[in-house]
Amino acid sequence: MTQHTRAKSDVFTPTGQIQFGVFFQGVNSGTIWKAAESGSQTDFESFRRIAQTAERGLFAAFFLGEGLRLREHLGRPHALDVVGRPDAQTMLAALASVTKNIGLVATQNTTYNDPADLAHRLASLDLVSGGRAAWNIVTTDNAWTGANFRRGGYLDHADRYKHAEAFVETAKRIWDSWETPEGPARRVLHEGQHYTVDVTPRLPRSAQYRPVLFQAGDSPEGRNFAARQADIIFSAHPKFDAAVEFRKDLVARSVAAGRGANAVQIMPASEFILAPTAAEAAEKKEWVRSLQIGPQQAIAYLEQFWGRELSAYDPDGPLPGIDPVVDETSETRGSGFHGAKARQLADQWRAEAKDKGLSIRQFVTSRTARVDATFTGSYADVADRLAEYARVGAVDGFNISPWLVPTGLDDIVNHLVPELQERGVYPTGYRGSTLRGNLGLATPVRTADDAAQAVRA
Ligand SMILES: Cc1cc2nc3c(=O)[nH]c(=O)nc-3n(C[C@H](O)[C@H](O)[C@H](O)COP(=O)(O)O)c2cc1C
Repeated sequence: MTQHTRAKSDVFTPTGQIQFGVFFQGVNSGTIWKAAESGSQTDFESFRRIAQTAERGLFAAFFLGEGLRLREHLGRPHALDVVGRPDAQTMLAALASVTKNIGLVATQNTTYNDPADLAHRLASLDLVSGGRAAWNIVTTDNAWTGANFRRGGYLDHADRYKHAEAFVETAKRIWDSWETPEGPARRVLHEGQHYTVDVTPRLPRSAQYRPVLFQAGDSPEGRNFAARQADIIFSAHPKFDAAVEFRKDLVARSVAAGRGANAVQIMPASEFILAPTAAEAAEKKEWVRSLQIGPQQAIAYLEQFWGRELSAYDPDGPLPGIDPVVDETSETRGSGFHGAKARQLADQWRAEAKDKGLSIRQFVTSRTARVDATFTGSYADVADRLAEYARVGAVDGFNISPWLVPTGLDDIVNHLVPELQERGVYPTGYRGSTLRGNLGLATPVRTADDAAQAVRA
């Protein structure tokens, strides 16, 4: 289990290996639900098939994102969101019973949860999965989610991370303060600016000691927070040069945080469009993009910025000549720009589209292309590119969004994984039965007495 665990050092040493996770995005415009066999975003079968395919490909982790409130579009719920998103922990608990080795990662935010409650729910997921649970820590980047909650408010960016840090520290103390089922559980006290708890844990440490901690949030504060608290970062920097830069930045932050250069792993968000040859992959990419941005998606995309109905416009014609409604645009909740910038943006986009001779649909397709995050090519070429990431230690793995449900991972599992294994950069089996073991993460060391020390913050 510990064969890949590295000793603490201020010098970064690549493992020469990469791992995969799957980021199952239920509601978004980048995943295609249009295949006859796609099922729905709320159907357990959709989740089960992707998780089991990922496990067949020896993926380390299955991720679920979180959105605690439906986004809105022109004052109405966003069409993609109304199809639904089940609660991550409930879904992962169900998946635990139909998988054996893959890690189960729940995105959960610190702004609206409570530490004692969330720590217990994650400890329960860790228990039912035999030590495969993880928490992807987010703080949420929008105010409209706050309207769902009793406390109603939203925290400033800086406050959100202070709150998050106290939250995560408390959760760790709750997990760590009951060593064995036979030993006594300690009381954990925290008295602070954001909350006060006096809690006795209801579960002892898990098979992997405590849930693995992922973090997603890219600001300097977010990165520092991850350097202090996280095991793995779900990053937004998959492109090679950006990934190398991000690694350097992270290493410096985690050395400064006193955790050494190798404490935090990195898995960027990514997408793979693969085929036997480069030409076929390029053709497939066109097809994938045409499905991702259909006529309705193209119009809806512009409506977010224009703040008004544009359904009368031809998706295959030029960008709308009318101007955005500035006030309404700022009411769009979920995406888009703030009103003040909308008119300027519209002028800029109209000029650009005219210049390049692009229709609405072509323009939106070009704007939403995830150029940085998409690996397109033949199985062998992409495997060579990924082997280079592994060699220099740019990343520890990739968190892959399948573009088609349920078959979007098949190419990766059937063709890319074997190519990577041949190059010696991808696991040939699960190393152990826990997520911590499979990721080669060190087991935390702390006595229950130390964990339970009262904290006044
Ligand atoms: C790759 C990635 C994935 C994320 N996934 C989610 C998510 O599923 N739900 C969510 O509420 N926030 C998500 N976030 C955003 C976080 O809420 C983050 O805490 C927020 O952007 C504020 O932090 P920052 O300013 O440090 O980026 C994600 C961020 C990144 C970079």
